[in-house]
Amino acid sequence: MSKPFFITTAIDYTNGAPHIGHAYEKILADVLARYHRLRGEEVYFLTGVDQHGQKVQQSAEKHGIPPQEFVDGLTSKFSDLWAKLGIRYDGWATTTAPSHKHCVGQILTRLHQAGQLYKSKQGGHYSVRQEQFLTDKERNDQGEFGPEWGEVEFREEENYYFKLAEHRDWLLDLLDRRPDFVLPTFRRAELRHAVEKMTGDLCVSRPKSRLAWGIEFPFDPEFVTYVWFDALVNYLSFAPGFNPIAPEHSPQFTLRWPPLQIIGKDILIPAHGVYWPIMLKALGFDVDQMPSLLVHGWWNIAGSKMSKSLGNTVNPDALADRYGAEALRHYLISDISTGKDADFSEERLVMRYNTDLANCLGNLLNRTLSMSAKYRLGSVTAPHGLRESVANYSPEASPVTSSVLDQIIDRAFRMKTICHSYQTEMEHFAVAQALAYAHSIATLGNELVDLAAPWKLAKDPSQSATLDATLYHLADSLRVIAILISPVMPNAAHGIFDQLQWNLQTTQKESRFQWNEINWGGLPDGHTLGQPSPLFPRIDTTPSDS
Ligand code: MSP
Repeated sequence: MSKPFFITTAIDYTNGAPHIGHAYEKILADVLARYHRLRGEEVYFLTGVDQHGQKVQQSAEKHGIPPQEFVDGLTSKFSDLWAKLGIRYDGWATTTAPSHKHCVGQILTRLHQAGQLYKSKQGGHYSVRQEQFLTDKERNDQGEFGPEWGEVEFREEENYYFKLAEHRDWLLDLLDRRPDFVLPTFRRAELRHAVEKMTGDLCVSRPKSRLAWGIEFPFDPEFVTYVWFDALVNYLSFAPGFNPIAPEHSPQFTLRWPPLQIIGKDILIPAHGVYWPIMLKALGFDVDQMPSLLVHGWWNIAGSKMSKSLGNTVNPDALADRYGAEALRHYLISDISTGKDADFSEERLVMRYNTDLANCLGNLLNRTLSMSAKYRLGSVTAPHGLRESVANYSPEASPVTSSVLDQIIDRAFRMKTICHSYQTEMEHFAVAQALAYAHSIATLGNELVDLAAPWKLAKDPSQSATLDATLYHLADSLRVIAILISPVMPNAAHGIFDQLQWNLQTTQKESRFQWNEINWGGLPDGHTLGQPSPLFPRIDTTPSDS
């Protein structure tokens, strides 16, 4: 049996409402999770929210409510949105959960006992906004701490430190030995560069006198845990079967670990690329048990960073209300290349919907069902010998002619290659490219309609088999397309199957879509298709008079 697919995302800070960047990351993870379930694999998808830290404490104070009440309100905004966007996760990490706090405490105790944590008094410049002490590295060209650090003050404090520097060579070795530790490759190179210059240890405590909203140190209740150290532990504390005392002894845990971890480019260095592997190493994990970090790019607005302070954040909830969750999923997956940045634009969302879904896929579905109903009372027939011709076809041996039957055989053959390319792209997390392959089958289908002109074939009894073959191929292509798009647009995929009257016994169940059914020719002779109904009504973009 293959290892279950364990996937995590970053957990989102609950000091503001979710924006389009948060939504993208969850959708990307959901698409990969659904793809692996489609392949018949067992999947565990963990996501959640990051609820502690100074910023949260300050925001709660501003609102005049206790921090727990403040984060509970925001947490439901995230979980409600994920439900609306069809994000199907298995584990929900909330860092104020007692089980998580207990686990963080046990991990701190373990690291303390192992000599990986020490107490020390240090003074320096402290950024209130970033909740960290600053070094000269953080000064800009003018020798100042730039506005990104907010208010900077001098502080002297006793704190707990986690040993980082002594693990530097081990981390460099990890980067060499595990090329898949950070993807894409250019991010690994950035991380390597940062590790080479790395000095100092990580302050992992905050005196309770100035930050109360955190997880208390079990062996020193005057301190709470630094929010990043607390948050990173979620990947372990919410992993099924994790035992902080002896992780290696839980078969339920080791069955799934290590995960594929999806994070944005801003939190690779230092949090996930430096602190996290060193924390794991200090807990006894070896090189092979390090996760893979899939680092995605950012959605920007007209080339600039989206931020609450600039007031240019995009609200995914409103977009889902306006265009539907699946239109949003389709846009966020198809208009960005995994790892790269992209510009968010509502016009492009509408344009992609109208082009890919309304004009191409929706049109193919509508035409296929209408013509089948009109010319064949909805019943499909693969003409005698067609399946054998497709099975024995080799494009090298038989150059394709313009005959409709030859074109169908060639297209049926190409579908196999397209599905293979889709699979390769998905395995490399290139979801936009994979989805483009699925849509290319719809383009081929529409081209075939124009080429075959079924309305002409229907008038000529001698073309009856060609008409059958055309309608059969189109309906079967739609069946395959539905399977391929199901990770991105599960509801649309169900809609296609419903209209094809296919796999009705598993209606609305994800198991309705199976990878082993992507081969051409799955619809049996005599299968009756349903009535067409518009799945992707065009979004009207003409400005209204008012
Ligand atoms: N709470 C930390 C992560 C802790 S993980 C142990 C955090 N939260 S966040 O809310 O600021 O960001 C959550 C995720 O959203 C991160 O992976 C971040 O990179 C991603 N994004 C935030 N803004 C983004 C865009 N504009 N575009 C795409 N993703 C972005 O960091």
